[in-house]
Amino acid sequence: MVGWTRKGTVKGRGARTPFAAREAPSTVTPAAEGDGRKEIIRLEGVSKVYRMGDVEVQALKGVDLTVYQGEFIVILGPSGSGKTTLLNLLGGMDTITSGRMVVNGWDISRLTVQELTEYRRTQIGFVFQFFNLIPTLTALENVELALELVDGDHRGKAREALEAVGLAHRADHFPSQLSGGEQQRVAIARAICKDPPILLCDEPTGELDYETGKKILALMQEINEKMGQTIIMVTHNSAISEISHRTVYLHSGSLAKVVKTEVRKRAEELEW
Ligand SMILES: Nc1ncnc2c1ncn2[C@@H]1O[C@H](COP(=O)(O)OP(=O)(O)OP(=O)(O)O)[C@@H](O)[C@H]1O
Ligand SMILES: [Mg+2]
Repeated sequence: MVGWTRKGTVKGRGARTPFAAREAPSTVTPAAEGDGRKEIIRLEGVSKVYRMGDVEVQALKGVDLTVYQGEFIVILGPSGSGKTTLLNLLGGMDTITSGRMVVNGWDISRLTVQELTEYRRTQIGFVFQFFNLIPTLTALENVELALELVDGDHRGKAREALEAVGLAHRADHFPSQLSGGEQQRVAIARAICKDPPILLCDEPTGELDYETGKKILALMQEINEKMGQTIIMVTHNSAISEISHRTVYLHSGSLAKVVKTEVRKRAEELEW
């Protein structure tokens, strides 16, 4: 279904990484640490403290984590354990309190506001639980909007992204005229249209029924394999860890453990 492969280079400050077009492997093999893959995300002692008047919330406490290019990482943990906080920090939507965070050569702990905007624009695609589409724009226009600040043929690129998620035939529908699964496909098209090296997903199947959720996961798995995008997916559904390369468990803002998936499943095989 994903009809395109990565071409060209990814624009990044301090890192211009060629991404060769990759074919999906015939069998799914776990991405082993240290098997020659490039490191794409490094967190060193990352902490986040929210201050509200006199009250301090330690949302993240000294998290160390390295993610390799092309990995599919699932983040699990109880409510309030810091999952969304971690995604927002990675997405440049919030700033860390202490520690160091380097993503694809960008030292996000040191960026100016302007550089952070550039970082978000070029490095990150975001997929949310509630789709976050603009109701007055069609599917095609929602995707085009994400390309606004990019040079080139917007309409063509937006159509290409909708095609990649199997929604070319719904391009002129408004969000209210689409099913939940279709809306999430538009949101995924919006996230991948700029070809960012990293996709951050916060409960992308949280609002979808079982079968639709599995189809969305299959699409994410395909994007990961065919386009080579690194995916970080937050979920409450522990079954999803079976399609990941590794699962990161957060507990009260700390990294409790990281577990490698020995035998990965296809999304279609998942049961919960
Ligand atoms: N903007 C904020 N201001 C103050 N405290 C916050 C803020 N955002 C999150 N927190 C607190 O930080 C902690 C971690 O929140 P976070 O949203 O990261 O949890 P989560 O793991 O995503 O939970 P859930 O599974 O319920 O979505 C919580 O105690 C939360 O109340
Ligand atoms: Mg959350």
